[in-house]
Amino acid sequence: MRLAIFCSGNGSNFQAIVDSLKAKDIPATVVLMLTDQPGAFALKRAKQEGIKSVAVERKNFKNKEDFEAEIIRQLEQENIGLICLAGYMRLVGPGLIRKYPGKILNIHPALLPAFKGTRAIKDAWDYGAKVTGVSVHFVDKEMDHGPIILQQAVEIKDNDTEQSLAERIHQVEHKLYPRAVKLFVAGKLKIAGRKVIIC
Ligand code: GAR
Repeated sequence: MRLAIFCSGNGSNFQAIVDSLKAKDIPATVVLMLTDQPGAFALKRAKQEGIKSVAVERKNFKNKEDFEAEIIRQLEQENIGLICLAGYMRLVGPGLIRKYPGKILNIHPALLPAFKGTRAIKDAWDYGAKVTGVSVHFVDKEMDHGPIILQQAVEIKDNDTEQSLAERIHQVEHKLYPRAVKLFVAGKLKIAGRKVIIC
């Protein structure tokens, strides 16, 4: 299976997925890293790994439909079977979702449905939550909303700083996302309404 990973920034989850597919005997390869940010560090990671990368900037298109039409063109060129959003800070539009139904995953640094949005770690920290975590889910047309595949809790300790909490969350992400990808590639995920059955 040919994978595309979408990133807007650092790309540490991109790296974790790439590394896990290298290390294990999984019939899947990351063949494309797509970013909406031409300065994203993920571009350097892709180059380092010898993985094709492309920057598609929203500002170069007159509307979201045209922007996503270009993204779809890039995906079709590479015959992509699974898209992983990994710190891709944009709401995926209906055109892209229709084109890849049940084939787009996202990782979110909180236990959904709590703390949706782009500042989930800070929001959980500011709120004074005692437990937060990581969710990997299928993408639907609402933000941070689709059926949940895997979740793992992360305790917020009294002596944590926002930074130390973020580091622990990222450590969990780097294990959880590759696990979810592996389940998808093995055909073990069945969507039943809001539920994901792992078979
Ligand atoms: C990750 O923590 C990911 O869960 C989060 O952005 C970070 C990207 O890090 N995504 C969201 O907040 C989406 N709502 P990375 O670029 O190092 O993988």
